[in-house]
Amino acid sequence: MRKLADGGPKLRESMCLKVPKQYGEKTLILANRLKIVNNGIEIQRDQDFVYIPLVRKPSGDESRNLKEQVAGCKLSTYVFRERKKHEPSLIELLEDKLPPHLLASLPHSADFVGDIAIIEVSPELDPHKKIIGEAILKTNKNVRTVLAKAGAVSGTYRLREFSVIAGEAKTETVHKEYGCQYHVDVAKVYFSPRLSYEHNRVASLVKKGETVIDLFTGVGPFAIQIAKNRENVEVYAVDVNPHAIEYLKRNIRLNRVEEKVHPILGDARRVVNEKLFGVADRVIMNLPEKAIEFVDASCKAMKPSGGVAHFYCFVDASDSLDNVKGRFVEAVEKWGRKVEEILFFRRVRATAPCEWQIVVDARIH
Ligand SMILES: C[S@@+](CC[C@H](N)C(=O)[O-])C[C@H]1O[C@@H](n2cnc3c(N)ncnc32)[C@H](O)[C@@H]1O
Repeated sequence: MRKLADGGPKLRESMCLKVPKQYGEKTLILANRLKIVNNGIEIQRDQDFVYIPLVRKPSGDESRNLKEQVAGCKLSTYVFRERKKHEPSLIELLEDKLPPHLLASLPHSADFVGDIAIIEVSPELDPHKKIIGEAILKTNKNVRTVLAKAGAVSGTYRLREFSVIAGEAKTETVHKEYGCQYHVDVAKVYFSPRLSYEHNRVASLVKKGETVIDLFTGVGPFAIQIAKNRENVEVYAVDVNPHAIEYLKRNIRLNRVEEKVHPILGDARRVVNEKLFGVADRVIMNLPEKAIEFVDASCKAMKPSGGVAHFYCFVDASDSLDNVKGRFVEAVEKWGRKVEEILFFRRVRATAPCEWQIVVDARIH
């Protein structure tokens, strides 16, 4: 998830509006309408206040009006960072086209997959999504297509529907991540740029000579990064979605890891039972909504001497990390193995208002 506008360095003291941070957005909209915002320098924030730089002092009437509408709004000075070159923000591009209450609900960020920007459009903005998409194309020069999410991630293949709201009518692109490239069609295979840190974190833990099984590989971001950056490894990359395996094969060629990554189409449990029993030093289980149901496959896939599991799951915000670890340890023990050590765990990202994706790394004996 990246913000939809950028800024630049150099410092400059300037007159500004200082407002309690909860009123920052409302004040910006009002100040933009008065055409008093200095767009050459960046708005600043501290713990309590937002500082909006001004090109001129507001007139007496304007000042009174601002103070009436925004509690705690004051004229002040502050040291701002200059923008190298002013790129208009989404709000600036749309301020003449949308009423203020709709400007306030514009998306602040997008997922960028290659040259595709993916945004969530709130229902009240739905009739205006085309002009929002056009504005995103203008403010993000590397973007060729803007997609709006048209549903939740669902089904065995973990897909979501999209509608093209601006630019080229496509859902396929090439995404770059930590020196690797991935062909991906976001309508046919699961891919999230928000997992890039995880892909890199897990890849960096793999040791020379390991055999790794990526049980739910998608287009292969774990498998390919491991193969590209670690020496003398074998990676078995499994997925049940035929499109995912087709893209994975293209990505294996694109990243020149044909010798190290072995794509396998099929259900993870069946593939382990038939082909990958007792071979792995490390198993990656990135199917958060169901990974707990595949702990048996993961235990069977590991060498008799044991190995490391990377277990992903979704939890309620009210659920503790200790409960998650407990459920995982219990599931491993049910399949006749033991968790020797919990090596690491963390919240990966918020996935819904009260839901987190969690990862647990564990040494299994
Ligand atoms: C959340 S995605 C993870 C993709 C990838 N690991 C990544 O980081 O981008 C889960 C993947 O598991 C696959 N999948 C779901 N059920 C499966 C099963 N029983 N066996 C193998 N793959 C499965 C889906 O098709 C999907 O591509």
